[in-house]
Amino acid sequence: MNSKIDTARTTSPEEMYAALSQRLGDIVPDFELRAKAQVAAEVNQLKADRGAVILGHNYMEPALFHSVCDYKGDSLELSRLAAEAPGDPIVFCGVRFMAETAKILSPERTVLLPTPKGGCSLAESITGEDVRRLKEKYPGVPVVTYVNTYADVKAETDICCTSSNAHKIVASLDSDRVIFLPDEFLAKNVARETGKKIIFPRVTGDLPTALGGNGASAGASGSLEYDMIGWRGRCEVHEQFTPEDIANVRRQFPDVMVLAHPECSPEVVEASDFSGSTSALIHAVKEADARRYLLLTECSMADNIVAENPEKEMVRLCSVRCPHMNEISLENVRDALTLDRFEVDVPEPVRSRARTSIERMLEISYGRSPTGPQP
Ligand code: 13P
Ligand code: SF4
Repeated sequence: MNSKIDTARTTSPEEMYAALSQRLGDIVPDFELRAKAQVAAEVNQLKADRGAVILGHNYMEPALFHSVCDYKGDSLELSRLAAEAPGDPIVFCGVRFMAETAKILSPERTVLLPTPKGGCSLAESITGEDVRRLKEKYPGVPVVTYVNTYADVKAETDICCTSSNAHKIVASLDSDRVIFLPDEFLAKNVARETGKKIIFPRVTGDLPTALGGNGASAGASGSLEYDMIGWRGRCEVHEQFTPEDIANVRRQFPDVMVLAHPECSPEVVEASDFSGSTSALIHAVKEADARRYLLLTECSMADNIVAENPEKEMVRLCSVRCPHMNEISLENVRDALTLDRFEVDVPEPVRSRARTSIERMLEISYGRSPTGPQP
């Protein structure tokens, strides 16, 4: 990147194009870079005029990721930044649950999501009512919820977690049993790492309390012995990767380092060389000295890594994409700032209850709450 040009600030299309072509010239066709540079410069002008701040998840497409974002990161880092980074409105380049988290932590600010949808199969797999039924079934058992959920679910939660701190959050609870929602695979990966036993109960109709599940065992009295109570939510992207994909790539490239997000199945994580949050995966590639890398996560991230580490060779499985993250573009970020859309709101009392569960997580992860006193 041309070190003199601050791509999150420049309002000159020529400067933006020069900087983007230096970084992305080998990845994005030149005619597209020219068009994207024009839009990115317009976005920066709007941002300056409005005093806005743009937060971008690591999955954003390369031209957006490397231009207008003031802050970038994984879900945990962006939660902290949503509370701390100055600017109003906050334009959230990610999916709806992330923008909701920003609004929960910064209720006095306007939060814009550049798409009307921005879904997530995990967030859609569970409702607040589901959590209430689980709590009735397992009274007193603390509820740990992945941030990939909507505010009504967080409002029923004791403490949130992300892919970067799930193990630490579970370990921090003074309880030998936890309800861990809603990602089946993340729960199984945490259970595997911590040696815990996990079950997946049904909470609808008159069905039995607990049905099967990894490692669940019936004691002599017929009662079940387990430490974690899970839910059958899955990421529609990460569930598609298989151990066979890894074996096929290793056969062709024996020197490949395989990195998997913990939303992948435990079999895939087991067959990989490294697992972690999106930022942890980026960091691991930067630090490693392997010849080639296979990232089992949204494919844009491989391009974003190569842009900063041109010497790294990435093997891409790009038929697996997150359609929700891919709804965000420089064009709809410009429209969001021009038309003040699509505003994200989280009404009370859900917001305050959800905030408590996110703040507990931030306190454990960062040793303090970044939000301070709240209205
Ligand atoms: P990270 O918290 O690792 O960025 O993950 C968010 C996500 O949605 C991954 O699919
Ligand atoms: Fe949700 Fe999966 Fe997309 Fe992440 S990659 S936003 S978990 S659907």
